[in-house]
Amino acid sequence: MRNNQDSSQAVAWPTIIQGGMGVGVSNWCLARAVALRGQLGVVSGTALDTVLIRRLQDGDPGGHLRRALAAFPQQEVVQPILEAWYIPGGKPADAPYKLKPLPTNEMLREDEALLIVANFVEVYLAKEGHSGLVGINLLEKIQLPTLPSLFGAMLAGVDVVIMGGGIPLSIPGLLDKMAQLEPVEMRLNVVSANRDQVFHTSFHPGTHVSAAQGELKRPLFFAVIASDVLAKTLVKKANGHVDGFVIEHHSAGGHNAPPRRGDAYGERDVCSVQKVAELGRPFWLAGSCASPESLAAAKAMGAYGVQVGTAFACCEESGILDSIKSEIIEKHRKGTLEVITDFKASPTGYPFKRVEVEANARREACRACDLGYLRTIYLKSDGILGYRCPAGPRKPFLSKGGTADEAEGKHCLCNGLLATIGLGQTRRGIPVQPLVTWGEDMSFLDAILDPNKSAYTAGDVLDFLIGS
Ligand SMILES: Cc1cc2nc3c(=O)[nH]c(=O)nc-3n(C[C@H](O)[C@H](O)[C@H](O)COP(=O)(O)O)c2cc1C
Repeated sequence: MRNNQDSSQAVAWPTIIQGGMGVGVSNWCLARAVALRGQLGVVSGTALDTVLIRRLQDGDPGGHLRRALAAFPQQEVVQPILEAWYIPGGKPADAPYKLKPLPTNEMLREDEALLIVANFVEVYLAKEGHSGLVGINLLEKIQLPTLPSLFGAMLAGVDVVIMGGGIPLSIPGLLDKMAQLEPVEMRLNVVSANRDQVFHTSFHPGTHVSAAQGELKRPLFFAVIASDVLAKTLVKKANGHVDGFVIEHHSAGGHNAPPRRGDAYGERDVCSVQKVAELGRPFWLAGSCASPESLAAAKAMGAYGVQVGTAFACCEESGILDSIKSEIIEKHRKGTLEVITDFKASPTGYPFKRVEVEANARREACRACDLGYLRTIYLKSDGILGYRCPAGPRKPFLSKGGTADEAEGKHCLCNGLLATIGLGQTRRGIPVQPLVTWGEDMSFLDAILDPNKSAYTAGDVLDFLIGS
C-alpha cells in the first residue's frame, strides 16, 4: 500500500487489485481474503440477484447469506426475499432453479429491492470483520441493474467501484448523488433510437431506505480502459471525478476491448501508459501482470501497482468449480491449455476470452434466454422499448429486428458463466454446461504451485507478487 498525496481523502492505495471477475468468480470469499491481506479485493457485481437467489435455493450452506441479510438496514425488505427464495436444506440437485423476472426498464420495486440486497450481501460479507478495502466490479454494457446494484454496494460501505466493458461517463456523478440519497437517472443505450429519442433508467434511494439512514460514503471510481484516448475522455467529460484507471491489455481474461482494425490485435491496440500517467490519476496495469517483475515494471512506468485476474480465478477461494480449476491446472502443466479470443461468442459484441474444458465438449448451444442480463435494448416501431439477445432463441431474435449475422456463433454467457460457479440451471434433468473465461498468461502457476500440489490460495498469489 502507498499513501496518496493528492487526494483529499487519505486513501491507502493498493499495490495489488484482485480484478473483478463475473459471474461470481470473484465472490466475497476471494475479495475478503485479498482485503484481509491489505490489498484491494473486488467482488463481481454482475448478476448478483440471480447468484443470491440460487445460493438461497441451495439452502445457504454455512448460513453466511442469512447472517448478511440480518444486517441489512431495512428488515421488511429482507423478509419477502427469504420467503420467496430460501429453501432450508436446499432444493433437490436435479430440480431446476426458480427464476426471477428478466431485467427490464419497468423493474418492479421488489426486483429493485432484490438487486440492492444482493449487492449489499456480497459486499457486506467481503468486508466483514476487518478494515481492508473492498471494491465492486460492474460492466457498463449491462445497464438495467446498475443503479440499484451500486446503491446496495454503497449501503454495505463499498470502498471502490470499478467499471469496464464500456465508457462509464455518467457513473462518477451518479455515485456523488446516491451518496446524498438523491434520485438519479442514467441514459440507456437503445439501438435504433435516433438522437432525439432519449431513454433513461431511474432510481430513488429514498423509496428503499429512510432518510434516517444518513448520507453514505461515496466510493472511489476506477474505470477499466484499453486506450489513453478513452482515459482522457473520461477525465474531461465524465459527470464527476474519476479517481483512477486500470489499463487493461488485450491478453486479460474476460471481455476485451475490440481491436481497432479487424479481428486481430496489433501495436495500435496497446495503450500509451505514458499518456495515461500524464493525466495525473493513479493507475494500475492489468493483463499478464501476475509476476514480481511485471509489478516492478508497472511501478517503473508510474503505476501504483497491477490488477491481477487469472491467478486469483484459479485459487481456492474463487467461485469456479474445483473440477474446472483442477482441469485447467492439469492442462497448463501438460501444455494443452488453449485460450481463444472469441470475437463472436459474447452477446455484447466485445471479444471474449474462453478456454475449452471437458464439460464444454458436450456443450450444446443454450438458446433459452431466461436470465436476460445481456439483452440489447431496442426501440420498437410503436415507440416502446423492446429487448432481444443474439444468443437467445433465433426466431424471436430475428422477429425483433436482430439479424442472422448477429446471432452467428453466440454463446449464452449468462447461463454458461453461472454453471462455471456451480449455480447452473438444469433443464429437463440436463445441466447447462459451463462457459469458462480465462486470461492468456498462466506463467505464474509454476512459481506459485509446487508440482506435487494441485491447489493454492489467494495468499499464495500475494506472497508471490509482493512477499508475505
Ligand atoms: C474468469 C475471469 C472473469 C473476468 N470477469 C471480468 C468482469 O466481469 N469484469 C471485468 O471488468 N473484468 C473481468 N475480468 C478481467 C479481470 O478483472 C482482470 O482485469 C484480468 O483478468 C487481468 O488479466 P490477467 O487475467 O492476465 O491477470 C475477468 C477475468 C477472468 C480471468
